[in-house]
Amino acid sequence: MAKLLTIQGGKPLQGEVHVRGAKNLVPKAMVASLLGSEPSELRNVPEIKDVEIVTNLLTTHGVKVERDIQGGTMTLDPRETYSAEHSEIDAYAGDSRIPILFCGPLMHKNGEAFIPDLGGCRIGDRPIDYHLEVLRNFGAVVDKQPNGIHISAPKGLRGAKLELPYPSVGATEQVLLTAVLAEGITELKNAAVEPEIHDLIAILQQMGAIITVYTDRSIRIEGVSRLSGYKHRAIPDRNESASWASAALVTKGDIYVRGAAQRDLTAFLNIYRKIGGEFEVDDDGMRFWHAGAPLKPLVLETDVHPGFMTDWQQPMVVALTQAEGVSIVHETVYENRFGFTQALARMGAGIQLHRECLGSNPCRFGQRNFLHSAVISGPSELKGADIDIPDLRGGFSHLIAALAAKGTSTVTGIEIISRGYEDFINKIVGLGADISISER
Ligand code: EPZ
Repeated sequence: MAKLLTIQGGKPLQGEVHVRGAKNLVPKAMVASLLGSEPSELRNVPEIKDVEIVTNLLTTHGVKVERDIQGGTMTLDPRETYSAEHSEIDAYAGDSRIPILFCGPLMHKNGEAFIPDLGGCRIGDRPIDYHLEVLRNFGAVVDKQPNGIHISAPKGLRGAKLELPYPSVGATEQVLLTAVLAEGITELKNAAVEPEIHDLIAILQQMGAIITVYTDRSIRIEGVSRLSGYKHRAIPDRNESASWASAALVTKGDIYVRGAAQRDLTAFLNIYRKIGGEFEVDDDGMRFWHAGAPLKPLVLETDVHPGFMTDWQQPMVVALTQAEGVSIVHETVYENRFGFTQALARMGAGIQLHRECLGSNPCRFGQRNFLHSAVISGPSELKGADIDIPDLRGGFSHLIAALAAKGTSTVTGIEIISRGYEDFINKIVGLGADISISER
């Protein structure tokens, strides 16, 4: 039965939440364990759906996964990995995008891989052409089948000279996870350099990989013949931290995010402060609050790291609906990441979407008819509404809006949020929100 969340808005969120390992690192670290000849240990693992999906997929391939959910420790033993039945793998079709990263490790282990149809948030087309192209360059043979992709390496995988058309996070991870055990040297240009990529590189280096990152977005990987296991504590989830920070701002609250790390939030914190949020930092986390003065509008553009991350955009748009004046947000990473604004508009926000690039830099989407720029006129009084959650970050933004709104909101589709936000309902309740949950 689906859950229905009823929210009485208008109460400032106050208190403390605990953020654990990054959703955009942990499942990939789990996949990396497949490359080892020995067990690995991952710490700071959150209890989120994506971790569950990857655990199941690894288990399906013979990896023994043990987990202390509360303590956040996971051990992964890949010593008896085998090729799984297509039908078993198929059970995970449409659940997540992580399965595409199994290609390299499974080809190294078993000579082949079957990847089910992918899932993930509907925020654009999200093709996998870069992934398949780099895999072909390593020598893989890709066979698209009706319910997935069969990929094999009849002649083994060899290092390659590669250049991504765009610094894709997933495609960079694909290259790393494949190149480390490929024969010879791989040179990747135009790589993504997000903090989660650096954390994955740290893991692979511990396992025995030789990886050099240069200042110009290029990465060189010298293939080795064997990797061991790793012991690693995952970096904290900077996107969850930014989401709680935005919740504090929008609800005029004050939230201490235990586990948040300033280092990977630089671009976010600059914008947060300019809008009118305050933060302070200690050894265990960060405190975020509304500084008291009316929020200020601004012009904002999402970008790859070290720019303002696309995953921070949606919660920040909710904050901008409360700023005094006109703000502009130009989304340059995903062509279709403003769908969530429809519900905000129904709640009373003044938001118009445009096909033109309204930022200072024209992006890939400007000539292609995508509504990827938003003009937000504030401040708007938000009113409760009935909301069906469309995607992970958009969904969390709807929760924030409903928590700040006047009156009652009902929210369906909240299961999507548990893909990336651990225990979010209890966290919201702990911050003093007036919410109730029912089945329907
Ligand atoms: C990762 O997605 C994250 N997901 C996303 O987080 C995040 O928004 C994104 O990186 C950007 O930082 C995970 O880590 C699981 P990309 P990924 O490849 O790797 C295009 C969240 O809410 N592209 O960097 O799938 C693509 O369409 C999620 O936590 C191709 O055209 O993102 C997009 O426009 C959402 N062809 C751009 O590149 C390809 O083969 C960047 O995507 C691959 C990507």
